[in-house]
Amino acid sequence: MKEIIDVKLRTRTVDFSKCKTELLAVGQFSDAKGLDKVNAELNRKLDGAIERLIELGDFKGKDGTSAIVYGNANIGAKRVLLVGLGEKKKATTDTIRKAAANAANKAVSMEAETLSLAVHIAFGGRFDLGTLGQACAEGTYFGSYRYDEFVTENEDGRLGRLGVEVIDSDLAKTRKLNRGIISGVIIGKAQSYARTLMNRPANVINPAKIAAAAKKLAAGCKNLSCTVFDEKQLAAKGMNGILAVGSGSQNKPRLVVLRYTPAGRVSSKVPTVGLVGKAITFDSGGISIKPADNMNQMKLDKTGGIAVLSTLKAVAELGLGVRVLGLIPSAENLPSGTSYRPGDIITTFSGKTVEVQNTDAEGRMILCDALHYADKENCDVIIDIATLTGSCRVALGSYMAGLMGNDEKLIKQLQRAAENSGEKVWPMPSGDEYAKEMKSKIADLKNIGSKWGGACTAAAFLRQFVGDRKWAHLDIAGVEMFEKATEFSAEGSSGFGVRLLTSYLMGLAAK
Ligand code: BES
Ligand code: MN
Ligand code: ZN
Repeated sequence: MKEIIDVKLRTRTVDFSKCKTELLAVGQFSDAKGLDKVNAELNRKLDGAIERLIELGDFKGKDGTSAIVYGNANIGAKRVLLVGLGEKKKATTDTIRKAAANAANKAVSMEAETLSLAVHIAFGGRFDLGTLGQACAEGTYFGSYRYDEFVTENEDGRLGRLGVEVIDSDLAKTRKLNRGIISGVIIGKAQSYARTLMNRPANVINPAKIAAAAKKLAAGCKNLSCTVFDEKQLAAKGMNGILAVGSGSQNKPRLVVLRYTPAGRVSSKVPTVGLVGKAITFDSGGISIKPADNMNQMKLDKTGGIAVLSTLKAVAELGLGVRVLGLIPSAENLPSGTSYRPGDIITTFSGKTVEVQNTDAEGRMILCDALHYADKENCDVIIDIATLTGSCRVALGSYMAGLMGNDEKLIKQLQRAAENSGEKVWPMPSGDEYAKEMKSKIADLKNIGSKWGGACTAAAFLRQFVGDRKWAHLDIAGVEMFEKATEFSAEGSSGFGVRLLTSYLMGLAAK
């Protein structure tokens, strides 16, 4: 895959003011009393320029803001970027991730070829340096990401390469930072890989292409294997949910099965985890067709599946001590003479029958087959991730994913992973009240509930396909993209889920 901007990240032990670089990024809290040691030294060498900027009120250290001070002959950097970190007491690892993303985003926009990050200094000893290093690396990839593989004009000015370094004047500290950076680079690159696949439109990517990407990934990673079920094998197995959704398109559906088996012994305390991701390469709604406005955004309906694919990439490269099964049911939901219709009754892989009342509620139709497969494969824990309902987007907006499940401990573990990864979740219900709405008079289930609580009824539907397994569901409709560019990110796919799921699995493997 074409790497859109080739970002290399390393650590270096160097004196801050002597560091030769196009852009040196330092952090500043909004409520800090004066400048810390590093910023004060830079200020002195810049004849008070940082202080003047702050006194004029042009930079207050507010979260999401930044300001540039130009270098002089006394310092090595051509420019110093002051990055606002907000209030000190509110700082989390995501504060540094966002600061690095902000700096990397600026570096790309100004076509700087080198960026030196010293944003961790402002945190003092409040976080472990490895954790800070990891967040810095993840933020660097996140903020420098661009999707422009089909832009043929103005290629001249485009930055092809960015060299980033995390710097400290103390060798012992750069070493500690570096431990986290190694993981952060793997996770950051996996997320950028995810964003490119997610951003690709449906005329470029389809279920077979997703399967090919998974095969290619597995071929290049030891401990990772990949099996793909095509439409004939899906039919032979009775995976009629996936087949029904894919029946309207020339691009036939697939189920991708990725299996990661760690090299070493796995502790018996560590569960085998099944990750199930919705990969609808385009969701037109099918016969229950969607309105035209923003329908183009439905190319991102494969986000959950790509998040699973990319998480397996990260897990394999990290060599985590946990068994993971990645399941990616993939189909294209289009209206045609061969489409499934409202009113159809589908016998799903589990044997449960579903009355289709709306062909636009297709995510659950493909997920139910993959969830049952995960149950049959003896996964101890099953987590699914899907751009499942507009209703979740209405409820939570674009900041948090909905989190449902049947196991308190698993919910807590995912909440912890969300805090660590900066990919936020919010708990929502999916119990019996909601399940009741999904009963059909002429089949076991129907695929839509009443007008209200659509995210919850959708989850309650899925819940019925996981047997007795511990299960959690992430509804990522709303967080899968940025409608507009922000200071931390380009517009388009957010890559949501890769950091969250990897962080959860790292937490398990650490046990
Ligand atoms: N992929 C959509 C959900 C979605 C909406 C994702 C907006 C991202 C942004 C899903 O397949 C869908 O169409 N859901 C329907 C369900 C309804 C028919 C019960 C919805 O939310 O309207
Ligand atoms: Mn739909
Ligand atoms: Zn959909």
